[in-house]
Amino acid sequence: MIKPCEPKGAKITGIGHYLPEKVLTNFDFEKMVDTSDEWIVTRTGIRERRIAAEHEVSSDMAFEASKVALADAGVEAKDLDIVLVATVTPDMPLPSTACILQDMLGAKKAAAFDIAAACSGFIYGLAIASSMIIAGKAKKILVVGVETLSSITDYEDRATCVLFGDGCGAVVVEEARPGEGILSTFMQSDGGEGELLYIPAGGARMPLTAENIGDRQQYVKMKGDGLFKYAVRAMVDAANHTLDEADLKAGDIDYLIPHQANIRIIEGVRKRLKLEKEQVVVNIDRIGNTSSASIPIALAELKEGGTLKRGDLVMMVAFGGGLTWGAALIKY
Ligand code: ACO
Repeated sequence: MIKPCEPKGAKITGIGHYLPEKVLTNFDFEKMVDTSDEWIVTRTGIRERRIAAEHEVSSDMAFEASKVALADAGVEAKDLDIVLVATVTPDMPLPSTACILQDMLGAKKAAAFDIAAACSGFIYGLAIASSMIIAGKAKKILVVGVETLSSITDYEDRATCVLFGDGCGAVVVEEARPGEGILSTFMQSDGGEGELLYIPAGGARMPLTAENIGDRQQYVKMKGDGLFKYAVRAMVDAANHTLDEADLKAGDIDYLIPHQANIRIIEGVRKRLKLEKEQVVVNIDRIGNTSSASIPIALAELKEGGTLKRGDLVMMVAFGGGLTWGAALIKY
């Protein structure tokens, strides 16, 4: 006879983050490309960003953030069932950064894999983690968003280089009662718009050659205005999906943690959800766009600042290359 399963939930029990020490300010960029602090602040909200040290890569930053998240949860790495790493800047194409991290942490019994969903990667990771736990396939999962975007940024292209930074955020997700923790998640994509944000060379379609490296094809290419138009609509739509699924309203939200791509996109989302400025977590001024790391870093900072309380309703919403977008609604 098949044993009936008890309904389960999943919740975040530990949070950690790591930022590299080196700071690159808008004034540094004034010396590198034709730009100004005034242009960058007005158009993006960014004043400075962190840049990884010369030999520091995604797994190194993930290791530091993960140790903090595991300690916060009171979970030992050896008890993890799955290590998920969301990144578009893996240490190398093979093995996955998740496997490298699994070894560094000593997560001996864990499965490990990377998620390539750009800025939405952490949200995709949370959706996968909560689904695995609710399905009874895992009990303890580490979800990491980490980027070494400085390794794929063209520091001769003023339209992109001022935007990106490096860093990592990590959470531990564990079993919970139904109705607590991660209340609902949503994921969507539109590959037809993939060339709004892409890296032409370095994969099977265009292997690296001296010629395409000379043409700087190994770096991110972006059509910022196309992304901008898409972003606000997609993020609000994702947020509304998770609210509907949880039978809640935007007015119930305590904190909004949006992906930190541009302060004007963040403001657009805030206004459409009719939230107050104080409810929105913003760190783009200090950190820039760290892609999949931006939401877990902001979550960690909210917690470390003592603002986040157990029971708060937090909406996390992301949009990025792929295109991909998604949201996760949690009762912390
Ligand atoms: N300094 C000075 N001038 C600049 C710079 C710069 N750093 N960059 C661009 N400009 C110039 C342009 O060349 C253009 O000049 P022109 O009018 O003479 O042609 C002018 O500024 C306006 O450029 P726009 O691209 O129209 O500027 P916009 O206001 O759209 O801002 C930005 C650009 C900040 C990139 C914005 O479009 C944006 O944030 N887009 C969304 C980015 C995003 O969401 N990315 C997805 C997530 S990222 C991820 O997945 C990793």
